[in-house]
Amino acid sequence: MQTPRDVTLAELAGPDAAAALARLRAHAPVTRLAELDGWLVTGHAPALAVMRDAAHFTVADPRFSTARVVGASMLSTDGAEHRRHRRPFAAPFRAAELEQRFGGEVARLATGLVARLRPARAADLRTEFAGPLSTAVVAHTLGLRDIDVPTVLGWYAAIVAAVTALSAGDRPTGEEIAAMRDLAVAVRGGLGHDASSVLTGARGSLRDDEIVANAAVMMFGGIETTEGMIANLVTHLLADPAALDRVRVEPDLVPVAVEESLRLEPAAAVVDRYATADVVLAGAAIAAGDLVRVSLAAANRDPAVFDRPDEFELDRANSRSQLAFARGPHACIAMDLARLETRVGLGALLDGLPGLRPVAPAAAAGLVFRKPAAVRVHWDF
Ligand code: HEM
Repeated sequence: MQTPRDVTLAELAGPDAAAALARLRAHAPVTRLAELDGWLVTGHAPALAVMRDAAHFTVADPRFSTARVVGASMLSTDGAEHRRHRRPFAAPFRAAELEQRFGGEVARLATGLVARLRPARAADLRTEFAGPLSTAVVAHTLGLRDIDVPTVLGWYAAIVAAVTALSAGDRPTGEEIAAMRDLAVAVRGGLGHDASSVLTGARGSLRDDEIVANAAVMMFGGIETTEGMIANLVTHLLADPAALDRVRVEPDLVPVAVEESLRLEPAAAVVDRYATADVVLAGAAIAAGDLVRVSLAAANRDPAVFDRPDEFELDRANSRSQLAFARGPHACIAMDLARLETRVGLGALLDGLPGLRPVAPAAAAGLVFRKPAAVRVHWDF
């Protein structure tokens, strides 16, 4: 059998990552990768074990830079402090609550984008539909009502750049710091004025600066991921005309299509933790302080859980066992908002762009965030 030494990070970032991950999983479900300087978890069972055990596998480690950029938030804390940061946002992110508060606005945004695209007969649905929709929805749910999409994207880019700079040992630039100050001012401005924002209810239990930090991680976590989630679903369906036809005539299948797409190509392919103690995981001797990277993409194709794991199957009974939104205390707080956007977005595309078809095949790529470079399509008018 080939050894993990054959697998490179470049391969894991490429379009054929699944084959490399399958090779690793067949070797061992938890493998040390020298190039990563850490462990890669590729089995579904150990992936769940890591994500559910925050006492042994933590996010509260100074090697993660997000907290240094935006302040402590639910993303960077564990235990009681994590619960304190996260609890105030649990209710507004429940599926029924989201549907009622934001369903209408998400539909309005999606149909508006489609109506503007329609006369052109061709588009890149990633940058011209999925990206603008996910940005506008995050801005709306955070109560940033009078802020345009380019401004929000500028703030997002500043957070990403500052986190990347700090992770590499550099300092954020003056512009990045100024962008984050502007974001904080805008978030504070919306607090208390916008009863439907997901932030408003947190005022009694968190300080305003803590609400701003959590708003920043919602923006950080909600733009590129949802863009990828929508782009990956459209890519899967356009590549499988039979599945696309079934989804068109049986809209009840859309939620299954969404889960299958998340299973095959989770837009956030990995989550990282640091071991707090020496621990043996699926036979691997992990030392305190080691990086433990969970490959959600690999776990989602574990043949021990999913039959024919590489197939996109609308009749799969257990597609909801996919781990694209993580599990355990840090499971994506906004998973049902992302699902809502993706369902509604797909509906708007299929209703508004007759005869939608690909111009060229697309394939997702990326080590952490996976999505196609473009989803080029055309349609009849
Ligand atoms: C509106 C869209 C979204 C928002 C506002 C959002 C926000 C967040 C936040 C705040 C967290 C941290 C939760 C915590 O640590 O307690 C989180 C976690 C996570 N989200 Fe999302 N998210 C969105 C969409 C997505 C999408 C589309 C995906 C992937 C398909 C995704 C994948 C994840 C994953 C894997 C985690 C776990 C991170 C970890 O455990 O280290 N999210 N999300």
